[in-house]
Amino acid sequence: TADDHVRREPHLAQIEAQWGPAPGKQQSDGGTIHVLGAQFGNVFVGIQPAFGYEGDPMRLLFEGRFTPTHAFSAFYRWLREDFAADAVLHFGTHGALEFMPGKQAGLSGDCWPERLIGDLPNIYLYAANNPSEGLIAKRRSGATLVSYLTPPLAEAGLYKGLNDLKALLERWRSSPSADERTALEPMIVDAADALDLDSRDITALSARLYELERELIPHGLHVLGQPMPQSSIDQMIAAGAEADLSAHNGELDALVHALDAGFVRPAPGGDLLRNPKVLPTGRNIHGFDPFRIPGAFAMAEGTRQAEEVIVRHTASGAPFPETLAMVLWGTDNLKSEGTQIAQALALIGARPRFDGYGRLSGAELIPLAELARPRIDVIVTLSGIFRDLLPLQTRMLAEAAWLAASADEPLELNFVRKHSLSHALKHDCDLETAALRVFSNAEGSYGANVNLLIDDGAWTDPDEIAEVFERQKGYAYGRNGTPARHAELFKTALAGVDLAYQNLDSVELGVTDIDHYVDALGGISRSITRARGSAAPIYIVDSTQGSTKVRTLGEQVDLETRTRMLNPVWYEGMLKHGFEGVRNIESHVTNTMGWSATTGEVSPWIYQRISETYVLDAEMRERLATLNPKASARVANRLIEASDRKYWSPDAATLAALHAASDELEDRLEGVTAVAA
Ligand code: BEZ
Ligand code: MG
Repeated sequence: TADDHVRREPHLAQIEAQWGPAPGKQQSDGGTIHVLGAQFGNVFVGIQPAFGYEGDPMRLLFEGRFTPTHAFSAFYRWLREDFAADAVLHFGTHGALEFMPGKQAGLSGDCWPERLIGDLPNIYLYAANNPSEGLIAKRRSGATLVSYLTPPLAEAGLYKGLNDLKALLERWRSSPSADERTALEPMIVDAADALDLDSRDITALSARLYELERELIPHGLHVLGQPMPQSSIDQMIAAGAEADLSAHNGELDALVHALDAGFVRPAPGGDLLRNPKVLPTGRNIHGFDPFRIPGAFAMAEGTRQAEEVIVRHTASGAPFPETLAMVLWGTDNLKSEGTQIAQALALIGARPRFDGYGRLSGAELIPLAELARPRIDVIVTLSGIFRDLLPLQTRMLAEAAWLAASADEPLELNFVRKHSLSHALKHDCDLETAALRVFSNAEGSYGANVNLLIDDGAWTDPDEIAEVFERQKGYAYGRNGTPARHAELFKTALAGVDLAYQNLDSVELGVTDIDHYVDALGGISRSITRARGSAAPIYIVDSTQGSTKVRTLGEQVDLETRTRMLNPVWYEGMLKHGFEGVRNIESHVTNTMGWSATTGEVSPWIYQRISETYVLDAEMRERLATLNPKASARVANRLIEASDRKYWSPDAATLAALHAASDELEDRLEGVTAVAA
């Protein structure tokens, strides 16, 4: 009851300052707070309350720190004190507890994760490919991780019209007769047009088709405790996995062993394709040696990849860039020993400095004569996770920018210095401040909240997205590693950006699979557009499969849509998992719309084809609605939202069909709710 909460909540005043008088609006009927879950004998299966932003988007503008909601705090108090659990098992990767405000490490009684979980043993089932967030859970909530497999991967393959196009192209390529080739060309153009593929260059079209066919996609979802099916093992081995995939899967045994207070053996976290030591799962993911990042191999790789970004950008006729923005994540750098950090250093024309013990101790400049091109000004936005896990590297990046800004070099060969001097004039500040280039959240805060805003849909002007992003990410981290709010400097820096990019480092995570790419890269893109007054090119550097491919964001969304959302191999794999599969399909639609909202780089045909595949096809609509009525209604509504926002213009019949589908689904949803009630 609310009274009970008021009497027993030791931090009531703090929570009320943020969320209003107890019991608050979240999971409450005004008199009581709901703890959602069901009890099975001695086991309570509960649903962790949400952060609390839902339905209250203004809250996304809160800067820096906040508190958990009344419901969140009451949930954990109930577990600890009323249910009196002996242990808590958090089930399945990035929950909210470990991201609650407080210190990054060595938490005290003033830190929310510590207040919430206390000394309750915390066992956390965690994705084997996510060492970075896993480490946050260990550090900030005392979790023992038990790893689980990521979904199997499969080649996307070709489907429907793509197969026919491939046959035409093969015939064209192998035909010895010039007449036959000429006759085939208009057929190829027609087939490509019907698939929204560019047919101007037939050789390039063949390469495109090959890329689509060979792209690796996640195939369905992993089921806890189940080993990979043999067909998936074959595909993984074909894709180059060296791991023994038929390995005993120790996930369930490890969970039970951990609940018996047994020791869970350690294991590295990472991709199955790259690191066979990830197996067997059912082990406690550990970290890395932060003093060796970036390593020598990572420096070589990062330097080469940074050059490829410049080559791709200038190939379109754009001048050599003076400033670029990049998004750095913890996970990618952990898995690659800091290849993306190395890119940033290489662009600035710097490298890591190591002490006599081979430990990272800072940055040093590469002399201009050796660099043989100007130093590029690099604005870095770090995820909160990167900032927590890689403090030495955060300071090193800030030092690299400072060294460049203060180097006595010609301005046309050192854009960091050129811009820092001009920022110092504009903001009437010292060079140290004007040279700040590393931005992230306030301490103890994570994410840009752009994903939450998109998901909520309650925004009208895209500037609201930029505003939310800058409130969260406008903290500059200098050479001493301490953050300070620098909103105006951040804006000035963004106004000069010529291009922005982010790396893709996990085969199973594309820019439409999770909402964090929209949050980070989409968010900064929108802020750049606002600061410059026009959009800048956005790129994705894909090094998930050995060689590096630089794609425009539009090309990446196109590729992922064709290989995932429109591909029967992908959606049938998802639909096998019922409710959760439909939820995944729905989040792809939302993420796609997020890219429209933040970058405008999604071609209208994408919405048309998604509509045809999932909503206008009566049989498919029925399947989705049966498996997950709520998510399927959200698919239809999201497509209508995209049309309302002018990201595509469906013809009247299509729009009417979408509305009819949405109404039908809403009716069904209400019916379902009524029956359940
Ligand atoms: C990171 O490792 O930095 C990260 C992971 C997931 C989402 C966002 C960032
Ligand atoms: Mg999420």
